[in-house]
Amino acid sequence: MQTVEYYQEAFGTFLKTFVKRREPETLYDPVNYILNLGGKRLRPVLTLMTAELFNCDYTQALNAALSIEVFHNFSLVHDDIMDDAPLRRGKETVHEKWDINTGILSGDAMLILAYQLFENYDANTFQALAKLFSKTALEVCEGQQYDIDFETRDVVGIDEYLKMIEYKTAVLVGAAMQMGAIVSKASTDDQIAIYEFGKNLGIAFQLQDDYLDAFGNPETFGKQVGGDIIENKKTYLYIKALEFSNAHEALELQHLFSLNPTDTTDKVTTAKQIFASSGSADAIKKEVAHYTEKAFLVLDSLTSVDDHKKAALKQFGASLMNREV
Ligand code: IPE
Ligand code: IPE
Ligand code: MG
Ligand code: MG
Ligand code: MG
Repeated sequence: MQTVEYYQEAFGTFLKTFVKRREPETLYDPVNYILNLGGKRLRPVLTLMTAELFNCDYTQALNAALSIEVFHNFSLVHDDIMDDAPLRRGKETVHEKWDINTGILSGDAMLILAYQLFENYDANTFQALAKLFSKTALEVCEGQQYDIDFETRDVVGIDEYLKMIEYKTAVLVGAAMQMGAIVSKASTDDQIAIYEFGKNLGIAFQLQDDYLDAFGNPETFGKQVGGDIIENKKTYLYIKALEFSNAHEALELQHLFSLNPTDTTDKVTTAKQIFASSGSADAIKKEVAHYTEKAFLVLDSLTSVDDHKKAALKQFGASLMNREV
């Protein structure tokens, strides 16, 4: 097992061979733009690390890793349209730089390109990868729809929220890892365990994303800070703040999250104050740690895997808990 930086670099080199000029440029330039904007490359790195976890050379998993990253970037292009987001990775979002129609069709093309990459595998592996991918991609759509539906609801249960983030985000992290296991021809039990590890890590990851959306540093975060508040997203921060507030405060918060003001400065400031004073900001940090620990317990149950490889994966998981971007 190599370092995370090693896999990031190897993946970056492989990605370069994929990102090339194609016509019509109006379709493919936005595809190349978003893929070249960078990002943490978390999911492909996990695919490559999982391959090595199960004693397969990581190079065998590069196409699966690329497929996951292309799908992830597709989902960001469409997500930014749905969330009316101006910034992604510190730069203009695709629909801002071009327009909404461009974002829709370039996104569609990316989804197809992601599937096409499975053609680099033998028939059995292709089938297993495509089956997992279809299931996961549909769940991501379901999660994204719940996310949008919740914007116009006053009350969302914590269980509903957890299911929503499991679908929109965590299943893809689980699938990224299971794909590494599929390419390695790992046993079904090992595939299930590594999927569960990735899923729990993915839940922790989305909770941290929700925390950073409100409390991240605008200089370094790369996205619009307060975007979830502006869009009335019912995140863990909002749900727990409602729970921890008295009836009067709860009504005030619900009212705040029913407004769509043109100048959003006061709304964001007030919501962040309530998140901090109610204790929901502390609660979400605890929940990030809880799901990370839960992931680690699943990993411990994988008796077929070397301890030093598990340790490398845990170190990576722990670093995600404290990330700032
Ligand atoms: C953003 O994912 C979308 C979420 C699921 C939270 P990342 O935070 O992994 O985005 P990049 O790829 O590093 O930019
Ligand atoms: C994104 O969730 C999930 C998917 C893209 C499927 P968010 O809407 O929270 O992601 P960011 O914060 O825009 O990256
Ligand atoms: Mg978004
Ligand atoms: Mg979203
Ligand atoms: Mg977010």
